[in-house]
Amino acid sequence: MPAVVIVGAQWGDEGKGKATDLIADRIDYVVKFNGGNNAGHTVVIGDEKYALHLLPSGILTKGVTPVISNGVVIDPEVLMEELDGLTARGIDVSKLVVSSHAHIITAYHRTLDRVTERFLGKRQIGTTGRGIGPTYADKINRVGIRVQDLFDEGILRQKVEGALESKNHLLVKIYNRRAIGVDEVVEELLSYADRLRPMVQDTALLLHRALEEGKTVLCEGGQATMLDVDHGTYPFVTSSNATSGGASTGTGIAPWRLDKIIGIVKAYTTRVGSGPFPTELDDEFGEFLRNNGHEFGTTTGRPRRCGWYDAPIARYSARINGVTDFVLTKLDVLTGLEKIPVCVAYDVEGTRVEEIPWSQSDFHHAKPVYEYFPGWSEDITGVRKFEDLPQNAQDYVLALEAISGSRISAIGVGPGRDAIVARHDLLG
Ligand code: GDP
Ligand code: IMO
Ligand code: MG
Repeated sequence: MPAVVIVGAQWGDEGKGKATDLIADRIDYVVKFNGGNNAGHTVVIGDEKYALHLLPSGILTKGVTPVISNGVVIDPEVLMEELDGLTARGIDVSKLVVSSHAHIITAYHRTLDRVTERFLGKRQIGTTGRGIGPTYADKINRVGIRVQDLFDEGILRQKVEGALESKNHLLVKIYNRRAIGVDEVVEELLSYADRLRPMVQDTALLLHRALEEGKTVLCEGGQATMLDVDHGTYPFVTSSNATSGGASTGTGIAPWRLDKIIGIVKAYTTRVGSGPFPTELDDEFGEFLRNNGHEFGTTTGRPRRCGWYDAPIARYSARINGVTDFVLTKLDVLTGLEKIPVCVAYDVEGTRVEEIPWSQSDFHHAKPVYEYFPGWSEDITGVRKFEDLPQNAQDYVLALEAISGSRISAIGVGPGRDAIVARHDLLG
């Protein structure tokens, strides 16, 4: 088995962390390939609940080598805090490997994230405020700081000076903030260097060798398809490639090695932050999904916007990512509904369209066309076999499978590690 990719198929928080945890005991390396500590993955193991941000969820599984690859942006303070937090809870984090090429989030990136959002006013993206966008912007502008720069004080100082020259003008003259000193940034970054140094490697080479030896590598995407900077609802997106293509550029693993692409899709839809969301509910059903699904952000605690399942989005994700298998999560959350609407197409200015319109304005105005499926009231959290699900729940899953562009190989029926109905081997 070569490389496997897990990606979010909607707007994030589909349960990617749990899906990773599900297969991690059959994996040798688990790689976070995009994003940073904007991600929030909750994994429930027995009575223990873990919230992971910067570290890949696979770190919770004994024997797995966790890797943070080149496509990630790292806030070193958050990295150290997360490592310490897990160590205190008895998780072995000593095998973590960090790419020399990953970019570093600094104090000025965090500040810029927050002030630019404030200045956008009504047009704000609703970012997590973690400095993600400004750090990726610096990477693309070729003024970023990389992990390897922390081990050469002279180079680090030059780069920070270069980056701050224009940013301080912006901060002081446009945003009315205080200038950020080169020394304070350099000192802070150098304070992490000794601890970080033993973790740093050429992760592309490490993963290449592992794959050549027949090891299994799981690339774990943060965020999701509709938040991808190229394929999502731009500009209401994150600043990285969260789709399966990002697993190749973000790790240095050749595209042909990415053999299994597992899309994680919720049995309904949620979104955090601004931007279009055709099936969003502003009524008691939205409240029902939020309360039953505990839809509050793992990273920021914000209430998530909730709505019904959107099949055109699932199909789009299947196509853009090349999804080989879907994991359908949180089916249990729908228990108790009399009927369950599913968006099967959109109405755009009176015309029925089957796919996501290419025009952002059209997508903003798209109204969902619903089909209705009968619900069920039985508790399904203890079900482990597909045939044991209530008939209406089986029919709902089969209906989603028929219109979502790929087979549904596993179904989540609760937050716990074992709360899963398996239909096909995800790695088979
Ligand atoms: P991620 O960002 O994609 O990893 O997802 P999050 O962890 O942010 O959000 C998913 C939440 O749903 C977490 O709190 C999980 O514990 C929980 N979860 C995952 N799968 C299921 C499921 O099948 N049923 C229920 N009820 N909760 C689930
Ligand atoms: P996981 O990995 C849901 C959203 C933010 C905002 C937009 C840009 O847990 O699924 P950013 O801080 O990345 O510049 O914010 O993207 N966002 C997420 N929404 N789940 C996430 O991660 C997200 N990461 C970023 O709310 O709308
Ligand atoms: Mg999340």
